[in-house]
Amino acid sequence: MYCYPELIKSIENNKDRILAGLPIENFPKYDYSAKNIMKDLLKFAIETDKITGRHMERVGIIAQEFNRTLGGKEGLENILLPAKIHDIGKVYLPKSFFNNNDGLTKKELKEVERHPVSGHAILEYIRRAANLESDRQLRIASDIVFSHHERYNGKGYPRKIAGEKIPHYARLVLIVDIFDAIASKRRYKEAIPYDKTKKIMTFGDHKTNPRQFDPNMIKVFLENFDTFVDIHKTLRNGSLSDKH
Ligand SMILES: [Fe+2]
Ligand SMILES: [Fe+2]
Repeated sequence: MYCYPELIKSIENNKDRILAGLPIENFPKYDYSAKNIMKDLLKFAIETDKITGRHMERVGIIAQEFNRTLGGKEGLENILLPAKIHDIGKVYLPKSFFNNNDGLTKKELKEVERHPVSGHAILEYIRRAANLESDRQLRIASDIVFSHHERYNGKGYPRKIAGEKIPHYARLVLIVDIFDAIASKRRYKEAIPYDKTKKIMTFGDHKTNPRQFDPNMIKVFLENFDTFVDIHKTLRNGSLSDKH
């Protein structure tokens, strides 16, 4: 059950207007809570595709731990739900993309690369429509959703921004996102063992260039690698959908 079914319906039914940044007419006004909105968005993602939804949950949980490990004033921030919804833009992808066991074509991959932009449009729509533009967690969520595929060396997408121009929490989520993508089984690939995952994140391979990571953050991540592996091990097989 959604906390705000009308909000999710509105995201589903107004795709074109949301992506175009146009206002939605007759938007029902409630007293929305940012936390419940993010929980609903996660449920919506899980209903769209369980495998993606579970990946999103794992990334959120590990990102929250990584944030604590990094410490400082940012380490006190609760980024659990903002990081969990990082791939929310994927709800706008065609359903056939999720059932493809052989991997996607180049053209389809280009379409997948739009998910940070779609997700950002959804978040910005909600922030405006629900009158929550000043909510800090939703602002962090919007940053993460929009920029978690930017790379420190400027070779990411959608804006190709580099270094500290990439919002702090998006740089953090990028590292956890790559870790989970390598170490988890997907429809089209087997899980890579943890020691090999660590090697790839340290030295790179044909897909991963370590220069895409914030150098200070990746250092801390690799130093504490076993902690994140332990969390990943407990999460990788089970369903999490009722634990968030
Ligand atoms: Fe993503
Ligand atoms: Fe992701």
